[in-house]
Amino acid sequence: ATVRREDYAPPPFWIDDVALTFDLDPAKTRVLNRMRVRRNPAAPEQPLRLDGEDLNLARVLVNGQGASFKLEDGKLVLSNLPEGQEPFELEIFTTCQPDKNTLLSGLYTSQGTFFTQCEAEGFRRITYFLDRPDVMSVYTVTLRADKAAYPVLLSNGNLIEQGDLEDGRHYAKWHDPFRKPSYLFALVAGKLVARSQKIIARDGKEHLLQIYVRPGDLEKTEHALQSLIAAIAWDETRFGLHLDLERFMIVATSDFNMGAMENKGLNIFNTKFVLASQATATDQDFANVESVVGHEYFHNWTGNRITCRDWFQLSLKEGLTVFRDQEFSMDMAGSDSARAVKRIEDVRLLRTVQFAEDAGPMAHPVRPDSYKEINNFYTVTIYEKGAEVVRMMHTLVGEAGFRKGMDLYFERHDGQAVTCDDFAQAIADANPDSELARLLPQFKRWYSQAGTPRVQATGLYDETAQTWTLRLTQTIPPTPGQADKQPMVIPIKLGLLAPGGQALPLQLQGETEAAALERTLVLTQAEQTFTFVNLAQPPVPSLLRGFSAPVVLDQQLDGTALEVLLEHDSDPFNRWEASQQWAQRILLQTLQADTTDATPVPERFIAALRKVLQDPTLDAAFKNLVLTLPSESYLAEQLECVDPQRIHAIRQNLQAQLAQALQDIWQLIWQEHSDTGAYQPDAFSSGRRALAGKALAMLTLEATRTGDAIWPGKAYQRCKDASNMTDRFNALSALVQARHPLAEQALARFHQMFKGEALVLDKWFQLQATAPDLDGDILPKVRQLMQHPDFTLKNPNRARSLIFGYTNANPAAFHRTDGAGYQFWADQVMALDALNPQVAARLARALDAWRKLAEPYKAHAEAALQRVAAQDKLSKDVREIIEKALA
Ligand code: ARG
Ligand code: ZN
Repeated sequence: ATVRREDYAPPPFWIDDVALTFDLDPAKTRVLNRMRVRRNPAAPEQPLRLDGEDLNLARVLVNGQGASFKLEDGKLVLSNLPEGQEPFELEIFTTCQPDKNTLLSGLYTSQGTFFTQCEAEGFRRITYFLDRPDVMSVYTVTLRADKAAYPVLLSNGNLIEQGDLEDGRHYAKWHDPFRKPSYLFALVAGKLVARSQKIIARDGKEHLLQIYVRPGDLEKTEHALQSLIAAIAWDETRFGLHLDLERFMIVATSDFNMGAMENKGLNIFNTKFVLASQATATDQDFANVESVVGHEYFHNWTGNRITCRDWFQLSLKEGLTVFRDQEFSMDMAGSDSARAVKRIEDVRLLRTVQFAEDAGPMAHPVRPDSYKEINNFYTVTIYEKGAEVVRMMHTLVGEAGFRKGMDLYFERHDGQAVTCDDFAQAIADANPDSELARLLPQFKRWYSQAGTPRVQATGLYDETAQTWTLRLTQTIPPTPGQADKQPMVIPIKLGLLAPGGQALPLQLQGETEAAALERTLVLTQAEQTFTFVNLAQPPVPSLLRGFSAPVVLDQQLDGTALEVLLEHDSDPFNRWEASQQWAQRILLQTLQADTTDATPVPERFIAALRKVLQDPTLDAAFKNLVLTLPSESYLAEQLECVDPQRIHAIRQNLQAQLAQALQDIWQLIWQEHSDTGAYQPDAFSSGRRALAGKALAMLTLEATRTGDAIWPGKAYQRCKDASNMTDRFNALSALVQARHPLAEQALARFHQMFKGEALVLDKWFQLQATAPDLDGDILPKVRQLMQHPDFTLKNPNRARSLIFGYTNANPAAFHRTDGAGYQFWADQVMALDALNPQVAARLARALDAWRKLAEPYKAHAEAALQRVAAQDKLSKDVREIIEKALA
């Protein structure tokens, strides 16, 4: 059944208090749920319909008396409830089977420990409830379990009582003083150890911070703890938001569907985003830990203190919290250059993954209008595009104005379940003179219209008038269910450069004031022109600085202009962007040319890149990003008809030419960057390691082509000797990506070295799944790896690393002319669906873009989709994705 946003109605009942008692047993856990319920006077009288899923119901009591009830499509329906406004007590006794719960939603066990995951609708798999975010209750939770097997018993809030019971059992009682929706409930029980730290926060109060992990993992928790401490301090400084709990716990589990979960006071994390040590985690892993720890912590205010009225408002908390974690990471990175690097990485993700989503069958607005399965809507659109929408508001009202808006948002809505409209209104109301306030209704189209706007920019210089006129047009492509679109509010931050690179003052016609060097134009119509005066020469425009809006910018800048921007733009984002535009132009020209011959790379492009690599004022991390070519999926996005193998071949060819033509520089870079000294995961040192890794990859690639043994030998040696995982993995990856004969040996050694390190083995599987295809050999390799004793489909991280690595991160190996990649995909979607529909539905999306494929890919892809669609036992998760793909 389809759920529609317009059908929202307030809940007919409120549940003010919940007392839950768990008798934890992996095979059969007993759950006693005592609720204080009352009618919602604002809703029409109707029966109470409680959500439930996979539960065994034993007893229902109303005010202590047996009550009549019905079960209607899984819901527990109570019709004869006490009349009037007085609260009554409803007691429900159920059992469930945590060790049979392969969905990892609700209560489940992972390696002998109990965990819960309730967002979005997992609480109904624990007990009957009004499992919707606008029903907020105070929870008291008693956990009872065998003491030897489950020494640690955790739930939300404060520990108010604990003790021993008979038969070797014990109990713990937790009370969370904050009202919360059911999706924020959590419990954990098992053999865990904690790194604990008491801090005095700026409010002068003492708080206990704890990171719980399995006993062997304790030494990998320091970075997570430091990240948490930094996140707490950051939220106090930047937003005046303090930790409102006496106790804040993070628990890691290796079986988890997503990244992490912000349960009040008891965050549960995928181990991938908690555990980090120099020996086992890369710089990227360290950065991810910091960002996800920050993200979940920031949810305590944006998500928990103020939550969502309904799941259509998901971006209210996710878009805002991603914006906050992005800003946190930028502030932690320190230098302006390191901030820009973080921004570039975020934009790369948005453009490769979210733009593709917005152009495919799953395109949906930041605030969707309907869904069949809400878990399918935890998307890059809700998260990353949602964060860009918040960022645009931030741009339109300024840093201080945004802070005022956030203050007003909390003043108005603390403790409530609200909507995206409420948020935008608060930001606008706090800044009544802003462009945002003036344009609010139109601005909110960012919430309702799907699709990536395309902005076309053309400049016209008038020599006699000494003016330059910028003409901007915007179009928004149709998306499923939205044929016609209205113009959006698009902030375009810009600067103008003289041909020699100097920044020019920006004075619009009619303005008398002294002009600034940078300003933000606000595009609101389908077409608008802006005329700049006092320009003695045609300027080089630097548009959409910092990626000030999530749009595709079309502008036909020539090589000379791109060169000026790459060398001189004061905006580091646009400097990088110039390199990308240039590379993209070269790649697309070759792609559209009617030949398979490699066109030689323009000398000028090579020379410009050489200059970047030699520039002593630029950070290594930035250089690394400039030398990273646009991804294959981003290139595919620019084409009407996609031949993934051809895109791959052409991109690889350009890569090889960069390896060859810049060989001397790569060697210099290696010499200067390969010794990174004592390991520190900060932005500056990470950048140096990343650039050294790129140099080694380039040198190994070139040496593999020429048959030279030196660089592959160095890579092999580094695989053996490196003192940290970043250097080791980069070296391994250089050999694997070059398909060098030494790769096999290096992989075997690496596996030997990290047996038992699950997160490292994930990398090992993934790397092999993403190796360049030679005569179709990757698919058989993936099949073979599925038989490896370390492989299991049941663990989402492992399944993602091998299977998604192949289907999502290795397009040229997946898109085979014989269609075997798609058949494999269909088999795995169905196999996973029987275990874990949420993960299966993610995999199902690997064929989102099938309609744009060239033949013979397209016909094979359609056949594979049809085969999945023909299954009658599909979950609604997978069904929704496949139906949309075929619609
Ligand atoms: N709220 C979590 C986060 O963004 C994501 C949990 C999503 N879980 C799910 N099963 N859909 O931090
Ligand atoms: Zn989140």
